[in-house]
Amino acid sequence: MSLIGEAIANKLDVQSFVGGHPFLIADLGCSIGPNTFIAVKNIINSVQLKYQTLKITPTPEFQVFFNDHASNDFNTLFKTLPSDKHYYAAGVPGSFYARLFPRSSFHLIYSSFALHWLSKVPGEVMERGSPAWNKGRVHYGGAEEEVVMAYKQQYERDMHGFLNARAEEVVCGGLVVVLVPGRPNEVPHSKCIGNVLFEILGCCLLEMAKEVPL
Ligand SMILES: C[S@@+](CC[C@H](N)C(=O)[O-])C[C@H]1O[C@@H](n2cnc3c(N)ncnc32)[C@H](O)[C@@H]1O
Repeated sequence: MSLIGEAIANKLDVQSFVGGHPFLIADLGCSIGPNTFIAVKNIINSVQLKYQTLKITPTPEFQVFFNDHASNDFNTLFKTLPSDKHYYAAGVPGSFYARLFPRSSFHLIYSSFALHWLSKVPGEVMERGSPAWNKGRVHYGGAEEEVVMAYKQQYERDMHGFLNARAEEVVCGGLVVVLVPGRPNEVPHSKCIGNVLFEILGCCLLEMAKEVPL
């Protein structure tokens, strides 16, 4: 069983919201597909299985809200929606670090590989003279502890905003599922493979920036 299937089987309390209403799902930071379509299909299959296992009929209709920044290519997303989908689709532009939906409205809110994008670069890392100045780099891998702390504090502020918003939006008995890249405690930031890749990307961006005439 998939991770999401397991979470739905064990944690989603469908008994607390049965009653003919559509089952509302949101994918926050959905991008343009196709990963989001695969995730949504898994979610719906798992919810249907749960209703069948508990012998609750009829199974609900599903509505899926695809969220990302307004600059996301929603046209591509909607043009490539699976033709055999069993849900009504809608797009919701805006940052998931604030409220996106009415209070107590969603049964399952999902976000995969998106919450590691901070809402902004922490100011201190761009300030020359600050102990957290990151010397123009775009990532904290291999940087001083002060830089790491500045990013950590921004992440804490962002997560606070995210969790507060979702706590308002999810119905009682509903589920918020978040998949984020992680780092084992014993691996230093500079040795973590994801960070190494961002360091390389950052170096390329800096090299390109140097080529632009001022
Ligand atoms: C790496 S993609 C992940 C796409 C998809 N969820 C997946 O698992 O393949 C991250 C997406 O999150 C979106 N994103 C980042 N910060 C966001 C925010 N504050 N609000 C909404 N979307 C955001 C980005 O625009 C991007 O489309």
